[in-house]
Amino acid sequence: MVSTFSRRLRATVPASVLEHSERVAKLAGELMSMRGEASETAILMGLAHDVCRHFSNEEWLSHAKKLGLLVSDLERRHPVLLHGPIGASVLKTSFNIRSKDVLEAVYYHTYGYPTFSNSAWAMFIADKIEPQKIQENARLNAVSELSLDTSRPLSEIALAILDFQIDDLIGRGREVHSLQITARNFLVSEQL
Ligand SMILES: [Fe+2]
Ligand SMILES: [Fe+2]
Repeated sequence: MVSTFSRRLRATVPASVLEHSERVAKLAGELMSMRGEASETAILMGLAHDVCRHFSNEEWLSHAKKLGLLVSDLERRHPVLLHGPIGASVLKTSFNIRSKDVLEAVYYHTYGYPTFSNSAWAMFIADKIEPQKIQENARLNAVSELSLDTSRPLSEIALAILDFQIDDLIGRGREVHSLQITARNFLVSEQL
């Protein structure tokens, strides 16, 4: 399954996206297996998550229109925020991916989502702290170290990432997407 998908993906996305997706897949798989969990689904999610990250703003907006997605003002100004929902649709229609777990993980991979499986959280985390992301922002190193502590559940690492992202956005005077708050509130409530 993963190797067939990988071959098809190679023909679809540019090299930079493919390389990032392969790093995410590898790390997501490792985060699962080091916690004694099966890694295959997280690997597939990692490979698949950015399947339409290379689209143009016009393409994202026209796909969103065709799919009847509600596009917020924030998303209209930053159409890249639509690449998760549109990617999930592309995976379903062009790659015949039927797994609800995989499609939901891709749909919400930018922010995380309350119903995420452990595989989905592993992909979410790996997307934010794969080696290149750490190189670009050394402040993420602390989260990366936390992720290697296998006594910590993936939900705790995901919460640390959302805290980091929200803090960073507020610090830069930027908007926070409502789904980011939703995901964080869910993860906090899990710890109460
Ligand atoms: Fe993405
Ligand atoms: Fe990504």
